[in-house]
Amino acid sequence: MSETAKDDAERKQVTVLFADVSGSMDLAEQEDPEEWRKIMQRFFALLADTVTRFEGTVDKFTGDGIMAIFGAPIAHEDHARRACYAALQMLDDVAEYAAELRRERGLNFSTRIGINSGEVVAGAIGGGEGAYTAIGHTVGLAQRMEALAEPGKAYVTEHTAELARGFLDLRNLGEFEIKGASRPVEVFELAGVGHARSRLDLARERGFSSFVGREREIERLEEALLRAKEGEAGAIGVVAEPGIGKSRLYHEFVQRCRSDGTEVFEAQGQAHGKSIPFMPILQMLRAFFGIGDNDPEQLAREKIAGRALLLDASFADDLPLLFDFLGVPDPERPVAQMNPEARQRALAEVLCRLVGNPTRKKTLMLVFEDLHWVDEGSQAMIQGLIDGFDGTRTLVLVNYRPEYAPPWEENPCWQALELAPLRREDTRELLRDLAGEDPSLDGLDEPIHERTGGNPFFIEEIVRELAESGYLQGERGAYRLARPIEGAGVPVTVQAVLAARIDRLGADAKQLLQVASVLGKEVSGKALGMAAGLEEETMERALAELIEGGFLYEAEIYPERLLAFRHPLTREVTYGTQLAEQRAATHAAAARALIELEPVDRYDELAALIADHLRQGDEPLEAARWSARAAYWAGHSRPRDSLRLWHQVMELVDGLEEDEETAAMAVHSRLLQLQYAWRVGMSREEEEHLAAAAEEIATRRDDLHSLALLRVATSIRPGLEHQGKVWVENVEETVALADQTGDRHLRVAVRGAGAYAYLCTGDFEGFERALDEMLELVGDDGSIGANIVFGSPIAWGLMGKGMVRRENVEFDAAEELFERALKIALEEDDPETASWIRTNQSGLLAMRNEPEAALAMGRRNCELTDRLGDVFSRSLALSNLSWTQMNAEDPAAALESIEEAERLYREAIGNGGEMEAWRLQLRAQALTRLGRAEEAVGVAERAARISREREMMWTYPVAMLALARARAGASIDGAEEALQEAERAARETNALTLLVDIEAEKEQLGSRPSRMY
Ligand SMILES: Nc1ncnc2c1ncn2[C@@H]1O[C@H](COP(=O)(O)OP(=O)(O)OP(=O)(O)O)[C@@H](O)[C@H]1O
Ligand SMILES: [Mg+2]
Repeated sequence: MSETAKDDAERKQVTVLFADVSGSMDLAEQEDPEEWRKIMQRFFALLADTVTRFEGTVDKFTGDGIMAIFGAPIAHEDHARRACYAALQMLDDVAEYAAELRRERGLNFSTRIGINSGEVVAGAIGGGEGAYTAIGHTVGLAQRMEALAEPGKAYVTEHTAELARGFLDLRNLGEFEIKGASRPVEVFELAGVGHARSRLDLARERGFSSFVGREREIERLEEALLRAKEGEAGAIGVVAEPGIGKSRLYHEFVQRCRSDGTEVFEAQGQAHGKSIPFMPILQMLRAFFGIGDNDPEQLAREKIAGRALLLDASFADDLPLLFDFLGVPDPERPVAQMNPEARQRALAEVLCRLVGNPTRKKTLMLVFEDLHWVDEGSQAMIQGLIDGFDGTRTLVLVNYRPEYAPPWEENPCWQALELAPLRREDTRELLRDLAGEDPSLDGLDEPIHERTGGNPFFIEEIVRELAESGYLQGERGAYRLARPIEGAGVPVTVQAVLAARIDRLGADAKQLLQVASVLGKEVSGKALGMAAGLEEETMERALAELIEGGFLYEAEIYPERLLAFRHPLTREVTYGTQLAEQRAATHAAAARALIELEPVDRYDELAALIADHLRQGDEPLEAARWSARAAYWAGHSRPRDSLRLWHQVMELVDGLEEDEETAAMAVHSRLLQLQYAWRVGMSREEEEHLAAAAEEIATRRDDLHSLALLRVATSIRPGLEHQGKVWVENVEETVALADQTGDRHLRVAVRGAGAYAYLCTGDFEGFERALDEMLELVGDDGSIGANIVFGSPIAWGLMGKGMVRRENVEFDAAEELFERALKIALEEDDPETASWIRTNQSGLLAMRNEPEAALAMGRRNCELTDRLGDVFSRSLALSNLSWTQMNAEDPAAALESIEEAERLYREAIGNGGEMEAWRLQLRAQALTRLGRAEEAVGVAERAARISREREMMWTYPVAMLALARARAGASIDGAEEALQEAERAARETNALTLLVDIEAEKEQLGSRPSRMY
């Protein structure tokens, strides 16, 4: 176990391998136990050696086999491949050993292997050395594969196949019902090594995406090649994190160079290749000499000798060494005995001469990929090559990841090229190529660019994952978005890459990163240090490592240090590696750090964040308290947030034992949700549910106060299809109930809410009386009764009084009241009442025949109200805008506004509410003006009927006026009768402004020739 391994458990993506002896019972019976033990020991040793060679961990010996894990404790991005290579090696080794056993003992010995990949929880269990183990369904399934496998075979599940495809040759055996698995599992037999060597090979097989960006880099490479062609050798190193496109860049460049006659030879390091000495050099030489994988030895020797001697006859002496090194020793010309160092030196020298030979005409380009996996020997050879190639027509291209530093950085012919992630526009282009241009994909490039940080590999994998999990439908290059991508997980391939990077961090840095991932996308340095509980010095060192490694960056240094994740995927993966329990503890620590470090005056704004940490930190009571604080803070200015937060409070306290505090929170959280229900909408069932539960608790606890508020929420509030008289009765009863509690706040709030019923039923005097009573109770303390049902009672009271003045055609008085009201609403931070006041102000302007000013105010109000996210007020503002548009002789715009207002309201609230008839009559008027009077008649009739039936007498006369106009416009009978009824009703309710309109209409009707008879 390396020193970066943590002793506490983690969630990890790994591959689990089980290998055992098939039919071991029978075999053991044939042998003396002592002999059998020896056989098994040798068998175990073979397996364990192979596991170690591929950097896996032997988890345990199972009696007649082993269990091994690849990817834990240290994550490897190619854990599945490693396990499969190990399995192939084991099959070979055991087959050889079995042949020996058959020869010597007549034993029929064979092994079977099962492999599966997926998430496990890995860590020390039980304690002590060697207690490290992996647990989870993934392990069980691997074992089942072993049991399923035929002797001498290795079976892998679809999960491993997904990761290893292309790199290994897999034969699909079909689906199998596996005990303990809820659905059939696709099983594959491991048949050999595949043709892909790198991820890029795999990408090529799937079909390359079109190459985007990288103009500057290609230019740099071309310049270097040009110099090389003139005899100025150079070496370039492209460095970047996995998947940024190092290999692809070279691939594109190499394609161009080959076509213009440059000789190119390539070699690449392998993730598990460090333990195989000289692999890249061997690859390079085989390519140089043109040796194929299946060439017989003799042919290979001929190729080597042919090419070398053609270059220079003096290579004759070096042939035995070359043959030997390339694995085709000539029995007739054995290589001279030398120690390994001398041999390596000799080889390096031959290599230099091959590359630097003056007889060579063509420009030579050598590409070494993935030097971060290079072994010491090869590295030394490459260094020798670079040191000695001065003056030759050679270009050496290497690439590697940032954790590697080449030892030849001082060499003047060397230049390093840092490859940056794709630019935004490149990502967009790549996505267009991968996913297509369907309009449903609009707006997808931003989040994908953010999430992947412009890493093309991540982009490709995410698109593939989205397609496979049904978010995208259609075919590559022509997808359609089937559902929003929130909630889509991180592809396992990407997880593997990121997890491997994270695991290479030192223990402290890794812990810090885990804590940071819990804290958020951006975290303050102080909070991070505190939540992580690290000493300052350790913390600084760990932080430096994380910044250096490109995990975090300093988003701000002043006034406070702010650290942010470089890409969100790293955060997601880091977060996902932690056990739930550990995560919860960190969340709780994060909350405490915030509370301790932040100044008290920031608590309100941070309350939601603190609450969230506490909730995830399993501290529900504290979380509920902070959520309530956040909800109060959001208040009427952000009704949707308030609703969500009160819902959260309710859920949190419902899980707790009932006491004074939790019961109060249980009731209040429900009452307040109901308060927001009429503003933003809620289903009838949910509302009833909330009300019933609140009533039950409040009654049981004799909580009159809450019962009064509950009545406001269920039978007084706006947004219901009220019956006028009943509504007023309910108001009177609730006012009496509130008075019983003696609570001044409550008495004010209930009166304020109740006053609206008088207005809607056309009782302007009653409306003003209720408001005056309320204002008297408030006195000059604006906080009395504030923010219970409405924000500022004074603002609301003055506005209402202004409305009454307006109905009485006392426009100046109305204007003055509205102005005072607005000033107070703004001072008291009550944007909701402010919106209603502006609505009334623009209406007043319209009545005063200032259509342009009315329109401007109406539009501005709609904009401001949109920000509230409150459907009630938005719909009101829009209806009013419609009215002012009509007034400004723009009936088409008026119709559009009123239709939008109706749609908004109905969609969110589910019924028409108390303003339904009012909106209908506006629509009727707009239709009449547009010459669609026949349609208008039906709409106006509905407005009239609804307002009459529901006793909404504020609206009734204006609905009758709308009907009169519609009938007149449609030239049908009854216009005059409607107008008479409008007049009668307006007189009854004393709606003086309306009477002015009715008079005007009467004259019009009288003058209309068609109505003469
Ligand atoms: N400029 C680009 N335009 C389009 N696709 C690209 C571009 N760069 C890379 N890709 C694609 O992204 C994937 C990853 O690229 P590549 O294999 O070159 O990354 P890498 O940096 O070599 O990663 P590693 O360190 O793992 O080898 C490939 O499928 C490749 O085709
Ligand atoms: Mg690469």
